[in-house]
Amino acid sequence: MVNCLYESGLGQRRERHSQMSETPRKKLRLGVLISGNGGNLQAIINACLPADFPAEVAVVVSNRADAYGLVRAANAGIPEMVIDHRQYAKREAFDAALHEKLSEYEVDLVVLAGFMRLLTPGFVEQWQQKMINIHPSLLPSFKGANAVADALAAGVKITGCTVHYVVPEMDAGPIIVQAATPVFYHDTEESLSERIHQLEHTFYPLAIRAIADGGVKLDKRGIVQLQSSYDLKATHGVEGAAHTVH
Ligand code: GRF
Repeated sequence: MVNCLYESGLGQRRERHSQMSETPRKKLRLGVLISGNGGNLQAIINACLPADFPAEVAVVVSNRADAYGLVRAANAGIPEMVIDHRQYAKREAFDAALHEKLSEYEVDLVVLAGFMRLLTPGFVEQWQQKMINIHPSLLPSFKGANAVADALAAGVKITGCTVHYVVPEMDAGPIIVQAATPVFYHDTEESLSERIHQLEHTFYPLAIRAIADGGVKLDKRGIVQLQSSYDLKATHGVEGAAHTVH
């Protein structure tokens, strides 16, 4: 492995060879929670394939047995399971079962990918700054389950997706990455959702990579500061859409 250090001003380039004995960096272990299709899950699975991607999917948990994402996980040889929320009388008990499973698989980062359950404040506290979500709007606009339809109804000309840390309040929490798309006059909920999904499939893996690389920090105000190498990629980049999944 060769690390390149650039010294600005002097324009000098130094190369430092790390020692052969250096142990490979441990990958960030992801626990992906789903309820349905799992398009984002598939994008994350694909992103994790290259050996140098700094994260791996350790386990996939669905609260619904019919979630297609479970098939995607099984096809990729990833441990997958159902924890059916209807089997639990209280939300706390369901969340406790979830926590136990994520801990058993030594999960470092919980990734909500179309997971349609509200999590209790206790669970969110346990995974504070270790749990992220993706939402199909430019938060704080259009929170909730109908974000794309609400954006269309409001007549906004730009919308997109947001990756954020999870806090007890729904669709809130420090914003890590946002990506934008225009809204066209002829857009339907379906056509706009499709473009937003393409953005999601590029930018969710990007956010995970940034976190795994240690490139995401919270400042004193609780605002995410991105390492400069991620700044532009994570805030512009409608051109991305490399990992499109249907
Ligand atoms: C995505 O649009 C995501 O923003 C929202 O739920 C949807 C999940 O889609 N939270 P998929 O299951 O990942 O295909």
